[in-house]
Amino acid sequence: MNPATLGLLYWRALILVENNELDISNIIIISAFGMFVLESLKVVQLLAQRMGASLTAAHAFFDLFDRIPTIDNGSNKGQELTNFSGETEFNQVKFIYPSRPAVLVLNKLQLSIKSGQRIALVGASGCGKSIIVQLLERFCHFTQGQLILDGVDIRQLNIQWLRSRLGVVSQVPVLFDLTIAQNISYGLENITMDEIVLAATKANIHEFIQQLPLGYETKVGVKGSFLSGGEKQRIAIARVLIRQPKILLLDEATSAMDPYNEQIVQATLEQAQTEDRS
Ligand SMILES: Nc1ncnc2c1ncn2[C@@H]1O[C@H](COP(=O)(O)OP(=O)(O)OP(=O)(O)O)[C@@H](O)[C@H]1O
Ligand SMILES: [Mg+2]
Repeated sequence: MNPATLGLLYWRALILVENNELDISNIIIISAFGMFVLESLKVVQLLAQRMGASLTAAHAFFDLFDRIPTIDNGSNKGQELTNFSGETEFNQVKFIYPSRPAVLVLNKLQLSIKSGQRIALVGASGCGKSIIVQLLERFCHFTQGQLILDGVDIRQLNIQWLRSRLGVVSQVPVLFDLTIAQNISYGLENITMDEIVLAATKANIHEFIQQLPLGYETKVGVKGSFLSGGEKQRIAIARVLIRQPKILLLDEATSAMDPYNEQIVQATLEQAQTEDRS
């Protein structure tokens, strides 16, 4: 109730009291009752607003739960190839981000990679190099064309099996807030300390880890925040090497390293490629 209305009511009540048409105690009771009702209405209004906002938020959540992703990450269906050689063919692949339909990121990409072949993609920033890696990982799906691995359409392959055959070191390596040893062996079972040390040695990070007071038990912090960019990259490379993947995808994996470390890690990666991993 606004002050003008309240003033008008008090003025009117005073006239009634003056004319002995209303008792002052009645005015006090009515005023107290009025204030109580108004305060209660304010609480109801506040509750209604909050409930409205909560319902809208819950709606957005339920829409998200109901969404059926085009790529089912948890699927166990699909082919698993024996003697997978890693032969990869991008056949007239087009890719457009659904959120940016006007931009054609990949336009009829034709690329054939033989088993054991090492290729590098070079291009300006934003030309679509990382997206090629993501398409192979099946993090997103191309708009048109075909992506064939060992003669089989990538969509026919079991996604868990496929990902277990790929080793990826992304442009910004993802480390977890765990120890260095746990980060290197992440997701693998029955890994010995010797295997972890071997992978770290190959990635030229073993000496650095040894110098730390807690060694391999050192926690790396959230997203590896206690480490430099190059150290993070070398741990990420150790994590990939321990898996001995059939296809190794390096997305500017040595970009934060100094030339000395980069040279050693590159040599290791070349050696890893020639090793028999069947
Ligand atoms: N989630 C996204 N939604 C919409 N567009 C995106 C998204 N991620 C990347 N892009 C766009 O897709 C294009 C290709 O990106 P991509 O990351 O593959 O480039 P890149 O060649 O790896 O570049 P860089 O060398 O800088 O890493 C860019 O123009 C980028 O802006
Ligand atoms: Mg990139």
